[in-house]
Amino acid sequence: MKKIGLLGCGAIGTQIALAIDTGKIPAELTHIYDFDNAKAEALAAKLAKRPIIVANPHLLSSNNVDIVVEAASQDAVKNHALSILQNRKDLMMMSVGALLDESVLDILFDACREFKKKIYLPSGAIAGLDAIKSVKDELESLTLVTTKNPKALAGAKFFEAKKMDIHSITQKTAIFEGPAKEAVTLFPANINVAALLSLAGLGSTKTSVKIIADPETDKNIHQIEARGKFGKITIQVENVPDPTNPKTSRLAILSAIECLRTACTDDIKIGT
Ligand SMILES: NC(=O)c1ccc[n+]([C@@H]2O[C@H](COP(=O)([O-])OP(=O)(O)OC[C@H]3O[C@@H](n4cnc5c(N)ncnc54)[C@H](O)[C@@H]3O)[C@@H](O)[C@H]2O)c1
Repeated sequence: MKKIGLLGCGAIGTQIALAIDTGKIPAELTHIYDFDNAKAEALAAKLAKRPIIVANPHLLSSNNVDIVVEAASQDAVKNHALSILQNRKDLMMMSVGALLDESVLDILFDACREFKKKIYLPSGAIAGLDAIKSVKDELESLTLVTTKNPKALAGAKFFEAKKMDIHSITQKTAIFEGPAKEAVTLFPANINVAALLSLAGLGSTKTSVKIIADPETDKNIHQIEARGKFGKITIQVENVPDPTNPKTSRLAILSAIECLRTACTDDIKIGT
């Protein structure tokens, strides 16, 4: 069985740990870390097989683990992803927005090749990444329209940068339109799907993103349209937000669990 180290014990990390603990993912959770130690303690207390809580993130990958799961933040990716690969561990990464910084992407891409290690990026809160990857050489346009309740956008840098008071949004309002690269910078914890789409398809400057704040919705809705020589793909996903973190969709958690399950299982791999 593969041994897993977990970096980040919040909404996603907790559900992944529980999926391992209950046998849904055939692996062993051996080490966990969160810079908020109370989060790590709270998670460990929920598990039947108690992992070791390490004192710093380097101890995750310097230990005998096979895969480190990052479910923390873009900063955690920037600060720790390279050393995880250098320690010859595979990495499953949730804070994908970090990869739209080309210097981070290039360094990690080279490290995967040099150390013969993999980075897994789960599909997150969207469907259809398999198709976008397949048609990437024929893509002419790729757009994402994301609609969320303002509560699910709270804390984003965007509101400070644009001097907009989130409480002033009382009706459905398109608050941002621009390239994925800018969307990920202004909404780092809210729009990882824009980063995933960019990486799978046309890149971050040619992928268009529109963000709509809608006080009437209780869903995180993503509409994707891709056009090109192959034809047209339209996808709409209406996600239920996680109860402990409304920025994160239930589907993002389920796709992370499935991605890790697949990485830990020798069986038939379904889908592209
Ligand atoms: N790929 C996707 O589709 C997708 C979907 C949802 C969320 N995310 C991203 O996944 C990450 C985790 O999401 P979540 O909902 O579990 O968030 P969360 O806020 O519920 O949990 C994050 C945990 O990580 C810890 N943490 C943050 N930075 C850290 C660091 N540098 N070192 C150690 N611990 C750190 C926090 O204390 C917290 O306990 C976020 O970056 C989020 O943007 C990705």
